[in-house]
Amino acid sequence: MKMMGVVSAWCVLWGLCSFSLAADELVVDVFERDTYGSWQVTGTACGPGPAGGALPGQMAVAGFQGERLVNTFHEGDQSVGTATSAAFVIDRPVLAFRIGGGADPDRLAFQLLIDGQVVRTATGHESEELVQASWDVHDERGKTAQLRIVDNATGGWGHLLVDDIRQVDQAPPRFDIDQKVQAYVRSPDAFREPLRPQVHFTPPINWMNDPNGLVYVDGEYHLFYQYNPLGNSWGHMSWGHAVSPDLMHWEHLPLAIPETESEMAFSGCCVFDEANTSGLGTQDSPPMVAIYTGHGPGRQVQNVAYSLDRGRTWQASDKNPVLDVGLADFRDPKVFWHAPTERWVMVVSRAVERVLVFYGSENLTDWTELSRFGPAGSLNKPNWECPDLFELAMLADDGTPLPGETRWVLEVDVGGGAIAGGSGSEYFVGHFDGERFRAEQAARWVDYGRDFYAPVSWDNIPEDDGRRIWIGWMNNWETSLVPTSPWRGAMSVPRTLALKRVAFNSEEPAVITLVQQPVRELSTLRGDARSLTTVSGWPPTALTEPGELEDMPCELEVTIEPADARSAGLRIRTGEDEYTEIGYDRFDAAVYVDRTKSGNVGFHPAFAGRHRAPARVVGGVVKLRVVVDRSSVEVFVNDGEAVITDRIFPSNHQPTLEAFTGSAKATVKATVRELKSVYR
Ligand code: FRU
Repeated sequence: MKMMGVVSAWCVLWGLCSFSLAADELVVDVFERDTYGSWQVTGTACGPGPAGGALPGQMAVAGFQGERLVNTFHEGDQSVGTATSAAFVIDRPVLAFRIGGGADPDRLAFQLLIDGQVVRTATGHESEELVQASWDVHDERGKTAQLRIVDNATGGWGHLLVDDIRQVDQAPPRFDIDQKVQAYVRSPDAFREPLRPQVHFTPPINWMNDPNGLVYVDGEYHLFYQYNPLGNSWGHMSWGHAVSPDLMHWEHLPLAIPETESEMAFSGCCVFDEANTSGLGTQDSPPMVAIYTGHGPGRQVQNVAYSLDRGRTWQASDKNPVLDVGLADFRDPKVFWHAPTERWVMVVSRAVERVLVFYGSENLTDWTELSRFGPAGSLNKPNWECPDLFELAMLADDGTPLPGETRWVLEVDVGGGAIAGGSGSEYFVGHFDGERFRAEQAARWVDYGRDFYAPVSWDNIPEDDGRRIWIGWMNNWETSLVPTSPWRGAMSVPRTLALKRVAFNSEEPAVITLVQQPVRELSTLRGDARSLTTVSGWPPTALTEPGELEDMPCELEVTIEPADARSAGLRIRTGEDEYTEIGYDRFDAAVYVDRTKSGNVGFHPAFAGRHRAPARVVGGVVKLRVVVDRSSVEVFVNDGEAVITDRIFPSNHQPTLEAFTGSAKATVKATVRELKSVYR
């Protein structure tokens, strides 16, 4: 509610006023006038009065209420100055305001003064979009206070934005993203953009990275994710939230854990504390507990938040941070219940050191260090992030479980230098006794494409299901600014995991290999299957008419018999001088995805390229299962012994499918199935 004319008239008459609007709020100032009234102004930064938005030379300013705000960009970033309010009485427990501009607590500050002393202070966040902020001032009730806006910064981002100062009973939500999401979801064109994945999870609007807090509770798969409530690039990291009964159809829920004034909510996990070991719920109403990284300037700590209503609303623990070792790079906790030792185990990363630390806890709040692992694996690859640790069944060659044989998998992500370039994931296979992880073989790559990062697995999947399922962020930090809008970021297809001994070639011994397959729920989206003509030879032969596959996602089952050919395979999403090639290269003994000509590749110099995964020829053939969506391709080689995940941004929306082989003796057979959009 904004009462412009009335407010300005009152303020001019009474100096700075705190007058009553509703029983629960008092307006301190909303700046809907062209002078500062009773505010004492020094210097030039604040200008002659509240600004009507952006000032000359400034990017667009948004997120203020009404027509005006305090904008200290008068005469640019180099100007300095202050504005100090008249005295007023603190008469509500919360002081709410909107703030934006530069982030410099020492030079750019919005301050609450009592007896001339600063008792609360806030700064901007390097954005011209103001966000809602508030101070808990219940301790100061009854006292006489003043507000001061300070701009002492002269470099880039040397300005502050302030508006809409009120005394209220309850802290208002920091972001108004939920309404924006609902408006988008209700719009007739929602989820119909040409590059919008139709069988993969995407946020309706805005930026998303890592999956977080994956847990199954009471028939719902929860998917939280790193989310920017303010825009389509990384920032303001908060936890977005969605739930699904089947891992395919997702219901978008309100923002779960927003960043606070002092900390962003970085990646983490969620457990269902059924026995209420944390005491955060009750025996009758056990809590869902999220353990995540609080990221502040120069400091990363582990925090706890909990929900007693199936994840719909979240409360921060009053014991936060629950783990603080004084490090700037200490993040991404993954917690699980270790039944044999009857305690919770956390694996968390000292990211720059490339060391994972294991902690134990009885109550999810007090944590004791158990052991460390690393550095190891692809040494010299910067930053270990988003670890996961779980036990998996070993499969025989025919895919049946080997009775009693299990191993532990320790997965970790590297911020750069991965197999296909940029960021990627590796894993260690070994043993975990509740205290220490011992690797039994060298690290291996999880995925050989460029776009599979920070996978984490669902906790608490019922034993009678028994699957270990994970999902990854289908992106690469190096090329993360992909050409999609109004959203950016997609998840991979959820994948079921197992282990199998695989000898990739006759010279090397078998290694225990992570096997990934799309979850069986994907097949519920299948339309009719069509076998396509078997192809032999060059040039590529069209298997479908232009437009026949429309722009819809599909699944391909492909059998390549390479014989004496150098290479053989498919071209998908083919248009004029545009295609993504998926094939087997006999000289490399590898399956590859080549996206050099896949469409829009020019948005980043590292995007175009060919990515190879080791592949064995079994009984003369290489089998592929390929999941194609509007802007991605996932290739599962020989029942998931290797995977290549790549984003593509085709410009042709009436594509054909082609096949080729480099010799008349080689053959390519394919079956294509349409996958129905989850939005239909
Ligand atoms: C991995 C990561 C995490 C961090 C998060 C921040 O992609 O860098 O380490 O918690 O993203 O958004």
